[in-house]
Amino acid sequence: MPQNQPHFYRGRFAVAPMLDWTTRHCRYFHRQFSRHALLYTEMVTAQAIIHAKYDHLDFDAAEHPVALQLGGSDPAQLKHCAQLAEQRGYQEINLNVGCPSDRVQNGMFGACLMAKANLVAECVQQMQSAVQIPVTVKTRIGIDDFDSYDFLYNFVQTAKQAGCREFIVHARKAWLSGLSPKQNREIPPLNYERVYQLKQDFSDLLISINGGIKKIEEIKQHLQHVDGVMVGREAYQNPSLLGRIDQALFDPNAPIITPRQAVERMLPYIESQLSQGVYLNHIVRHMLGAFQNCKGARQWRRYLSENAYKEGAGIEVVETALGFVEE
Ligand SMILES: Cc1cc2nc3c(=O)[nH]c(=O)nc-3n(C[C@H](O)[C@H](O)[C@H](O)COP(=O)(O)O)c2cc1C
Repeated sequence: MPQNQPHFYRGRFAVAPMLDWTTRHCRYFHRQFSRHALLYTEMVTAQAIIHAKYDHLDFDAAEHPVALQLGGSDPAQLKHCAQLAEQRGYQEINLNVGCPSDRVQNGMFGACLMAKANLVAECVQQMQSAVQIPVTVKTRIGIDDFDSYDFLYNFVQTAKQAGCREFIVHARKAWLSGLSPKQNREIPPLNYERVYQLKQDFSDLLISINGGIKKIEEIKQHLQHVDGVMVGREAYQNPSLLGRIDQALFDPNAPIITPRQAVERMLPYIESQLSQGVYLNHIVRHMLGAFQNCKGARQWRRYLSENAYKEGAGIEVVETALGFVEE
């Protein structure tokens, strides 16, 4: 375990920000599995918050600990959003310096900011000057042909000088043209050693690793080298992983939460949301993977997919689907 590592670093285990996936309903579901996992919002752009047609910052206190991920590169706008986020109770603000989509590049934020370390530093400095909660950066190990260790080192060093103390590093580079965001999560090879090296060279920073991590054993291995592990797709597609996290990483006396328990814990929330006019499908679409590898998982998925979107679909749809599953 690296020196200087607080025993319970907030980001020791985190579920990654994922657009359209880690909505507030998804986070509420994930929270039923784990008390300790740090949950990230989807990326919300500073523009969207400022020109909001609806409240992008709304969340349920039961989701805590929750971090807000911001997209943007205008220091004044980001500063304003950071202040709003702190007032609303978020526990961390994270700047997205990892997303390679064209839309994001056109807005001059996301991964292309890796080439603009001074601008990232200014954004961090402005945000951190306005709030008490930590401002963190999620980045890649490089972009396009800027993929040397020196490039990554200099990027981190510049943001560090501006006051950033925590970095989450997706351990593959991004190609800014030619690959879709999905391909950019699969094709560039993973290089975990780069992230370990960063922790060695910046032992005073908190460094989390991300990318392709699926199993508790792998998470424990990474924690020998870095301070935190962030898991994205596996947590979403197979959330039973989250039900084992508290016991494995935080508290040997914590219970293991089964998918059935987590789904049952969701029922009062679902009822309350339905009574406020939320559609059932907006909640249960994040629960389709709950029973991966259990008998009846297919029927669970199928029944929910075929029924949850229907007009007036209620809690009985979830209860019936649960009846198909044997754990
Ligand atoms: C559907 C989807 C949406 C994503 N949206 C975001 C996002 O909004 N912000 C971000 O920083 N990364 C986003 N990512 C990238 C993830 O946060 C993570 O870095 C990536 O999936 C690698 O981790 P994994 O292999 O554990 O999934 C997204 C990934 C997926 C699959």
